[in-house]
Amino acid sequence: MKRIIITEFMDEAAVAQLRAAHDVTYDPKLVDDGARLHAEAAGADAIIVRNRTQVRGELLVSLARCQVVGRLGVGLDNIDVAACEARGMRVIPATGANALSVAEYVIAAAMLLLRGAYRSTDAVASGGWPRNALSNGRELGGKTLGLAGFGSIGQFTSRLARALGMEVVAYDAMLGPNDPVFAAAGVACVGLDDLVARADVVSLHVPLVDSTRNLFGAERIGAMKAGAVLINTARGGIVDERAVAGALRSGRLGGAALDVFDVEPLPAQPHFEGCPNLLLTPHVAGVTRESNERVSSLVTAKVLEALR
Ligand SMILES: NC(=O)c1ccc[n+]([C@@H]2O[C@H](COP(=O)([O-])OP(=O)(O)OC[C@H]3O[C@@H](n4cnc5c(N)ncnc54)[C@H](O)[C@@H]3O)[C@@H](O)[C@H]2O)c1
Repeated sequence: MKRIIITEFMDEAAVAQLRAAHDVTYDPKLVDDGARLHAEAAGADAIIVRNRTQVRGELLVSLARCQVVGRLGVGLDNIDVAACEARGMRVIPATGANALSVAEYVIAAAMLLLRGAYRSTDAVASGGWPRNALSNGRELGGKTLGLAGFGSIGQFTSRLARALGMEVVAYDAMLGPNDPVFAAAGVACVGLDDLVARADVVSLHVPLVDSTRNLFGAERIGAMKAGAVLINTARGGIVDERAVAGALRSGRLGGAALDVFDVEPLPAQPHFEGCPNLLLTPHVAGVTRESNERVSSLVTAKVLEALR
């Protein structure tokens, strides 16, 4: 029997499956208690985390006997993968398991922001009738979606978008234009500048690495089509949040949805107050009941296999 610690929330059925085979500490608040986290880490053969536990530096030192890091999600920017591998620890992400949740979030956000008519509840309920003001919304069908990053989530999103009649163009720094993945998806591979100039909706699906930090700064946002919509479900730090606020206020951007932020939880941000057509969510694009089950069961199966 091995010792497993789980430091953030996980599907209970998957936790029970792990408990049936091993000695498990499951505490979704462990991530917030540094001293206890380090003490628990010292005895762990496996650690399972989401995106908040920083598996690097001192925690890695505490994880002296750990063989496996299960990641309940896909971004690995909270894990020093090279250092883990140098210590013989396997890092196991839940590749693909939350792609549908993120893709649906992107499509819903794009529709909501293009149409701009769904926030009239208070006005209508209180006897207002802002029909003229809200009759200028745009349709999603026939518009161009630009996907920066064409991995698991980018490809899933392209499928939903094409089914709704969008044209899809994509940029991926690691995939050449002749990569069969583009033709199979019916998506045109373009350069990033071209994508930004053509897309009515730009959605980001790249990992946070040195080359993607501030990829969408003021200059690139300023090069987007007038009135275009920007959606970031990838990672904070890829988009300049102040530049988004400025472009929404100036009318350069027609809307924006940000699910991820440079600092999370996001402290109060005066520059976002009163920004038109801005949707902010607390890093939930990939988190639904269904994806939590899929992510947890996939990581459970792989961690059990790795500990065998
Ligand atoms: N908001 C959420 O809840 C949520 C949920 C899941 C994933 N994410 C984020 O979404 C990102 C993408 O997830 P995925 O499952 O599609 O990952 P993935 O690894 O399948 O795809 C990422 C793609 O980005 C490409 N890429 C790498 N560096 C690039 C660069 N410099 N420029 C352009 N493309 C580059 C890769 O070639 C790859 O095709 C994750 O890294 C994660 O940070 C967020």
